[in-house]
Amino acid sequence: EKGGYDHFMLKEIHEQPRAIRDTLTGRVKGGQADLSREIALSPEELREIERIHFVACGTAYHAGLVGKYVIEELVRIPVEVDVASEYRYRNPILTPRTLVVVVSQSGETADTLAALREAKKAGSRVLAITNVVGSTVAREADDVFITQAGPEIAVASTKAYTSQLIAIYLLGLYLAWIRGTRSEAELAEVVKHLEGLPELAERTLQLEGAVRLLAAEIAKKEDLFYIGRGLDYAVALEGSLKLKEITYIHSEAYTAGELKHGTLALIEEGVPVIALATQTALYDKMVSNIEEVKARGARVLGIALEGDEELHKLADEVLTIPRTLSLLTPVLTVIPLQLLAYHACVARGYDVDKPRNLAKSVTVE
Ligand code: M6R
Repeated sequence: EKGGYDHFMLKEIHEQPRAIRDTLTGRVKGGQADLSREIALSPEELREIERIHFVACGTAYHAGLVGKYVIEELVRIPVEVDVASEYRYRNPILTPRTLVVVVSQSGETADTLAALREAKKAGSRVLAITNVVGSTVAREADDVFITQAGPEIAVASTKAYTSQLIAIYLLGLYLAWIRGTRSEAELAEVVKHLEGLPELAERTLQLEGAVRLLAAEIAKKEDLFYIGRGLDYAVALEGSLKLKEITYIHSEAYTAGELKHGTLALIEEGVPVIALATQTALYDKMVSNIEEVKARGARVLGIALEGDEELHKLADEVLTIPRTLSLLTPVLTVIPLQLLAYHACVARGYDVDKPRNLAKSVTVE
């Protein structure tokens, strides 16, 4: 059942190229994303949407954070992202022109479901991105996008996250096409790169040997930091959650620009910092932030793009991921972070698939 892997989590990490491919299948036509089968709203109705809310918990919330960047970039609609347990109690501003996108692997998370019901009561349209056909969220939403990750058994979510990202890219591309916010040629270019991701994810998985060695060191630490800017920050949050969840190592993710506003005080000799530097437009800013933590003695593991030269001079270790559009890198950047959490957990001897205190599906508040 684990397909030759020691744990479900590792199997699921390795299934990502397949999960990405399957989630794309049938949703691209003539070089454009086409979600007319998942979203029943007419083109006119889609053009009337004034704002989008992503609502979710945990890893699915982190996918929503990527969604904000992607949709605002491609579609130029204001996007808010909320943790479902906050959203449901904060009286959000909802109108019939708000599209609420709930993201839930299981489709059974109590807070996400409650948020969905609030949104429907307010007359907003709800699109669910979920991995489970027939789940409560899938049944109650107006429209449903089923990710094709396949059953996810490990408590730590991996392939569900990357599949959610694919769903979000397709949504952004579809809306941009319908609303004409980008030319067909520009959109076709993004679609082309999206279709290249399964192969690049496969290549990224080859980092595993190198990651395992680094994980043996990380496993000895009790605190660490993840830093990044833009989409790298969203991925930093996900990497940090993965590590906490299964290794019980305390970690925090920060936007690199925030370090000076407090956290830099915690950086001293030997403190591990995982620095994500895959966003080309923000690269120079990241380099200065890495210099700042290095100057205080941090031990830096950089995650950069293939062919990167600067980081090698600066960081103690560097892992590189294949190049694609900056918008799409989260799908690849997260892979070494998932593998790092996994191998650090194994090195510490904890139960990978069933971490303490956690359930796969949180059906109570
Ligand atoms: O089934 P859902 O996507 O609604 O679950 C949401 C979270 O409970 C889930 O992503 C959780 O954070 C994972 N254990 C993270 O790995």
